[in-house]
Amino acid sequence: MAASLLQSSSLSLLLVVLVAAASTARAQLQYGFYNTTCPGVEDLVRTELLAKFAADVTLPAGLLRLHFHDCFGAGCDATLLLKSHNGTAQRDADPNSTVRGYEAIEAVKATVEAACPLVVSCADIMAMAARDAVNFTQGPAYQVETGRRDGNVSRKEDALRFLPPADGNVTVLTHYFAVQNLTMKDMVVLSAAHTLGVAHCPSFSARLYNYTGAGDQDPSLDADYAKNLTAVCGGPSNVASVQPLDAVSPTTFDLGYYQSVATHRALLGSDAALLNDSLTAAYVQFMTNASSVDTFFADFAVSMINMGRIGVRTGTDGEIRATCQVYVD
Ligand code: HEM
Repeated sequence: MAASLLQSSSLSLLLVVLVAAASTARAQLQYGFYNTTCPGVEDLVRTELLAKFAADVTLPAGLLRLHFHDCFGAGCDATLLLKSHNGTAQRDADPNSTVRGYEAIEAVKATVEAACPLVVSCADIMAMAARDAVNFTQGPAYQVETGRRDGNVSRKEDALRFLPPADGNVTVLTHYFAVQNLTMKDMVVLSAAHTLGVAHCPSFSARLYNYTGAGDQDPSLDADYAKNLTAVCGGPSNVASVQPLDAVSPTTFDLGYYQSVATHRALLGSDAALLNDSLTAAYVQFMTNASSVDTFFADFAVSMINMGRIGVRTGTDGEIRATCQVYVD
């Protein structure tokens, strides 16, 4: 009796292990997931995006950020693209208010649907688009894993809870990344996505006008840089003006971001903070040497692949929908 109980419980344990192993296997992304189901889809996406990037040089930054905000919000499952009638979706959250590129993804999805209906997920198109954005702006060429499926629930709270704050210090930022299974290294590497794009004044104006609550300025800011930013924003209530995140080379994916940070011309508090921790500061300093570019590119590709694995839906989980931006309520 006891022996058979033991046997049956060993059997159950074995079953649990097998089921867990099977679901882990199912949860794997892979390279070339669409090779047989939609051959050439990655080229199709790239070709359409290259034309869009050529027409709007600011779009690569938008698409790189779009993928990041989707992945951190509720996993890389395109739920950031979903719309809500009553303002409760991820895209309605404040940290997503300046996210751009939704229409570009929708247009690419329509092209992909015409070639392979209901096969390729919006989430995979977003991952490909982020990769193409980096490469188009002279960054590294890397392969993306595919096989993600899309989610159909989008909650504002997820964006509010999981997107890191622009004034976070290294401890705070590392925590936000750790929650997503990403390391401090991923954090310092992926922060360099700020080699592209812009921020609106409210994202950094506290550093200019009210750093400690006493109407003061962040003393770590380079004086000339701070003067220029103050002129661009013209006061704490300006919400419209933008400033490049990389003061050195804003439309090229290069080491300009780290050079800006190292010379106290980081735009966001979260970027400047990288100098206040010995490990992240060492990485920033190393990346100020032109000869480090190959290491940076290799690191960035690895960390993008890591980010692209956050909370993915694969196998029979999630869905493939015809349109990315449908209303869910
Ligand atoms: C480390 C934590 C991060 C924080 C606190 C942060 C915060 C921000 C903020 C506040 C802006 C400007 C928003 C605005 O004022 O319009 C911004 C822009 C941007 N972020 Fe981040 N970010 C972080 C990490 C990342 C990562 C990991 C990526 C991508 C891999 C990324 C890509 C971008 C890009 C490309 C822009 C420019 C977007 C545009 O020009 O439209 N950021 N980020």
